[in-house]
Amino acid sequence: MGTLAQIDPVPRARSGGEIPAHVAIIMDGNGRWASARGLPRIEGHRRGVESVRRTVRHAGDRGVRVLTLFTFSSENWSRPRSEINDLFNLLRFFIRNDLAELKKNGVRIRVIGRREGVPKDIAALVEKAETETRGNEGLVLQVAFNYGGRDELVRAMRRIGEKMVRGEIDPADFSERVFAEHLDTAGISDPDLLIRTSGEARISNFLLWQLAYTEFVFLPVYWPDFDENEFDAAIAEFHSRDRRFGGLTGV
Ligand code: IPE
Ligand code: IPE
Ligand code: MG
Repeated sequence: MGTLAQIDPVPRARSGGEIPAHVAIIMDGNGRWASARGLPRIEGHRRGVESVRRTVRHAGDRGVRVLTLFTFSSENWSRPRSEINDLFNLLRFFIRNDLAELKKNGVRIRVIGRREGVPKDIAALVEKAETETRGNEGLVLQVAFNYGGRDELVRAMRRIGEKMVRGEIDPADFSERVFAEHLDTAGISDPDLLIRTSGEARISNFLLWQLAYTEFVFLPVYWPDFDENEFDAAIAEFHSRDRRFGGLTGV
């Protein structure tokens, strides 16, 4: 995982008219979008890549600082091999095809998830995308690939346990901050807004630690139909929320 300069946390106050600094998206419904049209599922995934492009552009235009996209979960390995291959091929295509433009637009790419088990050429492409965009100062595009929240927590705990055994971390000094520094998302503020498309209202093992105080917006639209208007509607919904973080409003 690449290291990043600390991103300032959003002020712990009402969301007001502020653009959410970190938006995370569970891009769901590609298969159903295709089935509803009598098309193979891969067609939905292909159209989903176009939604990714639109969304990255729009997030940047709106002033979002971090956009996290769930592209492949640790549970998605249970899908048919042919669909997994299609999804991997689309990721290869996306990095090869879009990296130059992302670079030009100042996007910094960072990938979270388990690196083991990922095809070698994809791991190399991911590495290249991270390295070549490391110096960029625009939108941080955090790609969750081969990612599972529980897997991330267990990997973090294992690293912490090893450090405790070596005497590098004193259990007495262990804290939420130290824990967060061992997650894949180290140095990135928690999401302010989580959007899930396709009408499902669950988080499917995404960012379990980081979503503690995130506002959730579930949209009925399938991912290939997610566009700028849908994004703006989710932000408007976010603005209507009163974020209290356990405190009281207006005190
Ligand atoms: C989201 O669409 C993409 C991935 C999970 C990779 P789905 O493939 O889950 O589409 P549905 O939910 O079956 O419609
Ligand atoms: C979550 O969607 C994973 C991604 C969007 C990559 P799924 O389609 O895999 O989730 P479930 O199976 O509906 O919970
Ligand atoms: Mg799905």
